[in-house]
Amino acid sequence: MQIYREKAALQGAISGLKQEKKSIGFVPTMGALHIGHLSLVKQAASLCDVVVVSIFINPTQFDNPNDLRDYPRTLENDVSLLEELNLNILVFAPNAQELYGEKIEAEHFLFDGLEHEMEGKFRAGHFNGVGTVVKKLFEIVKPDKAFFGEKDYQQLQIIKKLTQKHSLPIEIIGCPIDREVNGLARSSRNERLSSEVREEASFIYNTLLQVQVKFGTESAKSINVWVKDQFEGHPVLKLEYFEIANIDTLKTIETKEENAHYRAFIAAFAGEVRLIDNIALNY
Ligand code: PAJ
Repeated sequence: MQIYREKAALQGAISGLKQEKKSIGFVPTMGALHIGHLSLVKQAASLCDVVVVSIFINPTQFDNPNDLRDYPRTLENDVSLLEELNLNILVFAPNAQELYGEKIEAEHFLFDGLEHEMEGKFRAGHFNGVGTVVKKLFEIVKPDKAFFGEKDYQQLQIIKKLTQKHSLPIEIIGCPIDREVNGLARSSRNERLSSEVREEASFIYNTLLQVQVKFGTESAKSINVWVKDQFEGHPVLKLEYFEIANIDTLKTIETKEENAHYRAFIAAFAGEVRLIDNIALNY
């Protein structure tokens, strides 16, 4: 498995593959790979001849400098996890200068309001950073298809909007959320939880499952109250937000519309660790 540090070398390899008419799948990551990331890589390999996996901790998407400082850097382990898959993979692991040049700063994007909802309210500038790095990576890799997890559903929708707005000929594919045995959505942040708290954190998914059932018969308003109540009484988890939103606009539901699709979203803290999760409600 080849590891590329420089974009020119990666681009050379990719243009060779394109001449051989190989299709290119792309999975952008920030490393600290876990089974959830690997599920994206496997899906990409099932639909494309070659998979490019980027590993780059993108400084411009961190709203909290401590988060950036503490983000796990585990390249060697990441590479061996990918190697074990035995698939046709190229790894792109550039440094910040290689991607950004001298000025490490985010572009400003308008995503038709998607950027102002949920995560956008709590993580200033985050989606400008994500948009900036993904656009740069797309321009380098020029994949046929790119794979993003539904775990970060808002990010997935924003990337779809980015490709639409810039007319990029890339198919964006959303991949299902991979979960631990107790239902907790896999995340590199879960490693920071004690085993007791990790068990408690399955409460988030269990709440979403109950919301899914309630959505059939109860109003969004009463579900909102119910969820807040559930978290009020919880000894470990602190709710940051709960939203039921239209999947296309990500706007909070006002009244259920006939042909609209909805998801429920939760962000909650377990001590210092911020966890997010979501679930489809009516499709
Ligand atoms: P990162 O958090 O490393 O996630 C990389 C990809 O893996 C994202 O598309 C994310 O949604 C997906 N993923 C993470 N956990 C998952 C799970 N449990 N199930 C399914 N998919 C999961 O997201 C980023 O990096 C960055 O913002 C990035 C897009 C790379 C831009 O820097």
